[in-house]
Amino acid sequence: MSPASSPTDAWRMKKSLVALPVIMLLTGCSFLATETVSTIGEVSFDTPLAIPPIADSRVDATGTRVFELTAAASETRFGAGSATPTWGFNGSYLGPTLVADRGERVRVAVTNALDEPTTVHWHGMHLPAKMDGGPHQLIAPGETWSPTWTLDQQAATLWYHPHLHGETTEHVMRGLAGLFLVRDDAEAALDLPREYGVDDVPLIVSDVRFADDGSLDTEARRFVGPTGNELLVNGTLGPYLEVATTVTRLRLLNASSARVYDFRFDDGRDVALIASDGGLLESPVTTDHVQLSPGERAEVLVTMAAGETAVLRSTPPDLGGPAVTAGQSAGNDSFDVLELRASNRLKENASVPSRLAELERPDENAVTAERRFVLDGTQINNHEMEMDRVDEIVRLGATEVWDVTNNMALPHSFHVHDVQFQVLSIGGEAPPAELSGRKDTIYLRPNTAYRLIMRFDDYADAQWPYMFHCHLLWHEDQGMMGQFLVVAPGDEPALRESDHEHGG
Ligand code: C2O
Ligand code: CU
Ligand code: CU
Repeated sequence: MSPASSPTDAWRMKKSLVALPVIMLLTGCSFLATETVSTIGEVSFDTPLAIPPIADSRVDATGTRVFELTAAASETRFGAGSATPTWGFNGSYLGPTLVADRGERVRVAVTNALDEPTTVHWHGMHLPAKMDGGPHQLIAPGETWSPTWTLDQQAATLWYHPHLHGETTEHVMRGLAGLFLVRDDAEAALDLPREYGVDDVPLIVSDVRFADDGSLDTEARRFVGPTGNELLVNGTLGPYLEVATTVTRLRLLNASSARVYDFRFDDGRDVALIASDGGLLESPVTTDHVQLSPGERAEVLVTMAAGETAVLRSTPPDLGGPAVTAGQSAGNDSFDVLELRASNRLKENASVPSRLAELERPDENAVTAERRFVLDGTQINNHEMEMDRVDEIVRLGATEVWDVTNNMALPHSFHVHDVQFQVLSIGGEAPPAELSGRKDTIYLRPNTAYRLIMRFDDYADAQWPYMFHCHLLWHEDQGMMGQFLVVAPGDEPALRESDHEHGG
């Protein structure tokens, strides 16, 4: 699948002491480091934004809410050009939105109608490792996998996508991704917009590059992986959204392989950031921009006046680090994302609550283990992922601090399965307000250390591991991933243990 002289081979040659100019020379021939894309002012906004349908479900005799997803190949017409071969769940591209309540037991029957294996991972979900849908839960062609679990976490915008070792980029970029919305009473009690697709609108943002024959170009040409030169929002090219209410809730998901977005409106208006990956913040953060790296989500409230339009854009993100960071990350690009069109009469539908949630923070005095993760090249702690090697053993019920360092001048990110963590510090400083809530994925600025606190409750399994990894999908595919087991007292891990030094 990967060509012999892929960008990673160049990175493997790199030792961390090699100076940046040498790295640039090593990689310059295969990477498009100089291409800068701007679609500002060039997007026609002539297509109504597609809204992924809410997935059908039924409640079976045991009270379990049952969903069905089928992954299959077909084709999609995104624009005027030729049809694009795509993959989707229950449709040609992306998948339906699963919605369920905290406390509900759910089961998702996932059928693989592709002619190759895939998996479906529930990103952000707290659930048993065996149900997690990582690389160990392969679904063979023609088979159905039916994980079941009970939702027990704060209301949140989660998502699902394939997670098979080495092929995640390809499967996600072809279109296999969808949202999973968890609802709960605390969120339902707030005066927030919540009419799906009307004033509570999902925005799944992916960057794509169409080849001349209409197919999606998924090749990695930069250190960060594949980046596109135009955007799809919920699979729509050039989308607009008619707004009929004063307040609109946008649920943003960066479903892209490698690109970091910095979303803002063309007129610089403020929005209220109300939620991050794991759900509502304690109180809204007034801001004029929201930066999201791959896999991250945010919910914002946008207030509009009758008759006006506002264009959501993505402008060059603040990636940290030297200029090479942006150059190797497509970080100088700008996009027109979506036009919001307010009608001439708006219904007053909601307000911006001043208080959103009470978040219990894991107790720092209760920390029983501290682990260190250093990301360099496409390795974590000098290791690449191996399916039969477990890298960390966590005790059930433990509160831990994970000290995660990006040891390079280039971007990475960090995602942990099973838990929602909270950020204690970034480079020794307290995190900004937008990172004060629950997170499962975080952008790692170059040469910066992040201290994350998390608790591993409820689910122990000595055999089936969870993953932690860089969520730049092509890095993940290169092996920038490790495995951890959560074990109950007295349980012997059933996987070969890593020989690296543990911090804990
Ligand atoms: Cu969104 Cu381990 O993945
Ligand atoms: Cu995940
Ligand atoms: Cu990475």
